[in-house]
Amino acid sequence: MTDSQPGYEFRFLHAEHIPQILALQDLVIENLTDKENYYKESIDYFQETLIGEESSLGIFMQGQLIGYNLVSFPKMKAHNLGLDAGLHEKDLLKVAHWGPAAIHPAFQRQGLLKNIITRQLHKLTNKGYEHILLTVAPRNYPSLRFVLQQGFLIKQLKLKYGNLLRYVLHLNIKHPISNPVCRVSVSGADLDSQQFMLNLGFYGYAVREGQNGVELLFGHDGFSGQILTRHTGKGG
Ligand SMILES: CC(C)(COP(=O)(O)OP(=O)(O)OC[C@H]1O[C@@H](n2cnc3c(N)ncnc32)[C@H](O)[C@@H]1OP(=O)(O)O)[C@@H](O)C(=O)NCCC(=O)NCCS
Repeated sequence: MTDSQPGYEFRFLHAEHIPQILALQDLVIENLTDKENYYKESIDYFQETLIGEESSLGIFMQGQLIGYNLVSFPKMKAHNLGLDAGLHEKDLLKVAHWGPAAIHPAFQRQGLLKNIITRQLHKLTNKGYEHILLTVAPRNYPSLRFVLQQGFLIKQLKLKYGNLLRYVLHLNIKHPISNPVCRVSVSGADLDSQQFMLNLGFYGYAVREGQNGVELLFGHDGFSGQILTRHTGKGG
């Protein structure tokens, strides 16, 4: 696989890489300020994911794994995040799950994750996948901002992985543009109001710094010309 960042090598991950993946996963979790931001996957998860079609990518430096983004294909299984995002049954076979993703702390903020997902998006599109879904922890604003910038929309906020609250985000590859006619901003900490907006059919499309801290912007395509407010929310 070609390499646009000198010194790094991008390779598809297979079962033989699992020991390196587990070691990197532990290191990344050790360095997290908020441990709930990353759900530690088991060896079984990696084994099951890496026997499927080639899509999970790793970045290597001098043979050492320094980053990864797993891709899996849930097909019609109950854990298909497309069900949480309200996709039609016929679309579930076109779903790819992204994550977990991790970059070695010494190599973060160098565009490596961006590089990995650009390659993966290209490949998934060529293979005919149309929907990418992933989860992000509510307080993980850097990751949330990043995926929203890539065109993902927040479709759900619910307990996943046993008992961890997660946003479920959806990228419609063929129709990535959102152009909400109705917009509401809600405090990043006010998860009840966010859940309320999502239940009304709104989707989250951006994160911004507001006067009182982080705010999430929610949009709706169905009510033309209205601006709604709730609690700390204001149009924006
Ligand atoms: C999330 C993670 C995989 C991002 O990897 P990365 O290679 O550092 O990301 P990139 O350099 O490609 O940056 C992509 C964007 O993410 C955002 N971002 C990532 N880390 C950030 C941070 N610490 N602070 C602010 N923004 C951040 C930025 O928007 C960044 O774009 P920018 O640099 O142009 O502003 C990495 O930080 C990580 O391993 N974090 C710990 C594990 C984790 O939280 N995984 C996600 C849940 S599975």
